Parts: sequence; structure tokens; C-alpha cells
Amino acid sequence: MKFPYTEKVLEHFKNPRNVGKMEDPDGKGLEGSPACGDMVAVYLQVDPDTKVIEDIKFESYGCASNIATASIITELAKGKTIEEAKKITWQQATEELGGLPPVKAHCSVLAVEGLRASIRDYEEKHGLVTEKEPTTTDVVRSRLKHVMNPMAGLDIIKTELVTKIDVNDGTVRLLIDLPSDHQFATAIKEDINEKLESLWDVTDISVVFTE
Ligand code: FES
Repeated sequence: MKFPYTEKVLEHFKNPRNVGKMEDPDGKGLEGSPACGDMVAVYLQVDPDTKVIEDIKFESYGCASNIATASIITELAKGKTIEEAKKITWQQATEELGGLPPVKAHCSVLAVEGLRASIRDYEEKHGLVTEKEPTTTDVVRSRLKHVMNPMAGLDIIKTELVTKIDVNDGTVRLLIDLPSDHQFATAIKEDINEKLESLWDVTDISVVFTE
């Protein structure tokens, strides 16, 4: 059987570079693809003075194309400043791989979105965001699309685990349709806190589970 992939895609798929989790990263991004529901996580270590990406790692829960693209973007991003790395596009990554089948374009988009999310996280955590939009329920909802529902393998918005979002004067209040003693309740709460606490105007996060 002939694969519709270039040698380079297959090589990066079989021997992905910079794969794995990073402990205490300076920035971390988790993105899901609306097209297929797969996910990718990207971790960064950044020099605080030069803003150069000194180390980068990824974990992919996606397909061969996603693994190959994530692998190549880590190679492209390593050694670049975060401003330079922001300009890496999925087209550029695809080109570096010698092309991908058109039906697989969303897989490389997912990898690049993961990189951008990790850079955004770094910038937020290090006070580098200049355009500060006020946090709204839409902003919170879009952040929560990056929190997994471990029971479904999809995010907590898509799986309707979040039944209410209130944002008022720096306080975010969420209602989660899960008993507080559920085995995943603590993990979900921690993940929610992590995704929301870097929002510049959020001072308090209250996650309320159903009884
Ligand atoms: Fe989901 Fe490729 S099919 S990442």
C-alpha cells in the first residue's frame, strides 16, 4: 500500500523530535481541533532576557500528520524569539515536510495553534500582553474549550459540563454538572483554574459542582 505522505512526514512521524512533557514550563498551550477533536500540548522554556525559545516539547493526541507537523514546528521554533516563532505558519510547516494531503491541513493548523497558545500563555504569565481586553463570558468560554472532560476525551464546553458562566467585577463563577466528589472533579477544577488565572483582570475563580 502506498502512503499519501512524503518521506519526511513519515520520518518525523516515526522519530518525532522534542516529544514529551516539560516539568515547570514557562509557557504551555493545549489546543483542540474543531475539525477532528484531536489535541496537542506544547511546552516552552524561554530565556527571560532575550525571549529566545531555549527548549520546546510537545505531546500529540492527534494523527500522523499532526505528530509530524508538531515535530517540525518544534525544530522551527527552537532558537527563535517568541516574536519570530509567532510568525511560523501551518503552510510553512507543511512546506518543510514536503507537503501534506489537503484533507490533513487541519492537523498542521492544530500544531501551529498549539505553539501559538503556548506563546500566548507565556506572554500572559509574564505581563507581556499589551492589548488588554476585559474578560467576558465569551473569553471564559473560549478558555474552557481547552479544558478536557476526561470522561469523553473532548472539552468541557463541547460536552456541556459547564452549565453556567458568570463574570462580574473580576470574579468568575462556574457551575459544573458533576458531583463534587466525582473522581475527576479535582483535576477538572485545577485545569480550569490554570486556564483562567492568567487572565489579567480576574481576581477570583469559583468553581461550583452540583451536589
Ligand atoms: Fe485529528 Fe489529524 S485527524 S489531528
